[in-house]
Amino acid sequence: MISQKMQDAINAMINKEIYSEYLYLSMAAYLDSLGLSGMANFMKVQVQEERFHAMKFYDFVNERGGRIVLTDIKAPQVDFNSAMELFEMALKHEEFVTKSINELMDIALSENDHAAKSFLFWYVDEQVEEEASMDQIVNQLKMIDGKGHGMLMLDRELAQRTFNPPVK
Ligand code: FEO
Repeated sequence: MISQKMQDAINAMINKEIYSEYLYLSMAAYLDSLGLSGMANFMKVQVQEERFHAMKFYDFVNERGGRIVLTDIKAPQVDFNSAMELFEMALKHEEFVTKSINELMDIALSENDHAAKSFLFWYVDEQVEEEASMDQIVNQLKMIDGKGHGMLMLDRELAQRTFNPPVK
């Protein structure tokens, strides 16, 4: 049985994961409005990743005999100044999510919840990838400095991304 404290903290994390999904969908919409459909595709795949993260938490709470409680999702930002600003914000958001996962791990340790600790290791590893993929795009955008040909090439590359559900 999961403790109330652990359950509340994971429910709050489910909200953050679904907010992430909503934020990245808003980012996809902005990129689509610029005609950057490959970058928009990258974000739409990210939307699916975030739903996966949320559902993995959902299943864990359920399996431990807890109660999933869903709360309001705040509206995401609609407009951005550029693709560069957008990906920098996405990287900052992933850093925030990593901090939240670390805080969840602290609660698992303080609650002596070994099952939660083991479960959360997956997210600790996943966040390394999440930050790295955003960071890589920010660096590539810096290199091409928002210029036409480079933007076109990067957009084409990001159009190739597909969602492959991670192994649970
Ligand atoms: Fe669910 Fe992008 O971390």
